[in-house]
Amino acid sequence: MVIAVDGPAAAGKGTLARRLAAALGLPYLDTGLLYRATGRRVLDAGADPRDPEAAAAAARNLTPADLARSDLRGPEADMAASAVAAIPAVRAALLDWQREFGRRHGAVLDGRDIGTVVFPEAPVKLFVTASAEERARRRFLELQGRGTAADPAQVLAELQARDAQDRQRAVAPLVPAADAAVLDTTELDAEAAFAAAMALLRERL
Ligand code: C5P
Repeated sequence: MVIAVDGPAAAGKGTLARRLAAALGLPYLDTGLLYRATGRRVLDAGADPRDPEAAAAAARNLTPADLARSDLRGPEADMAASAVAAIPAVRAALLDWQREFGRRHGAVLDGRDIGTVVFPEAPVKLFVTASAEERARRRFLELQGRGTAADPAQVLAELQARDAQDRQRAVAPLVPAADAAVLDTTELDAEAAFAAAMALLRERL
């Protein structure tokens, strides 16, 4: 069984997907990590994350060690990930790997295009969203929790810029699948979001 969890940045996808995976005994894949690690490799090589050749080469040569790096979170990694993610050859290079992961034992995958492109046949698709202000507040708290200095207005501006880039790209844009259940977590804490998602799951399985 594959469960697709998509949505904009800091909507609570990761927390929810991890909990669903634990509750259902399924592996979990944070597909954003693949794009983050690709972006990091490009930056390490001194190249521009918008450079299609440099980015595609980085995506094709990703190693497990790249995914375990400690510098995959934060504003620089966010924007590099979103830049490489707009490049068709990068997405193509990462597609089979994601599909194999899901097909092996079933999985919960979170990202932007799981329900539309990676697993359009997934029986359960959630599109997790929240207001931009609430998502920025959560991201700000997350940065603070990691001891990273951040300016709330800048966090909101960066989040909106990244969402706009993810929504407007030509390939696999961020958009709910036609058959996705939309879960707005603006007013929900992690526990309530999990309960709502489990209720949607029961309806669909
Ligand atoms: O989910 P996360 O914020 O870690 O993703 C980082 C970036 O990777 C996103 O802004 C998006 O551009 C890209 N991404 C994507 N498709 C996915 C997962 C992430 O394009 N399935």
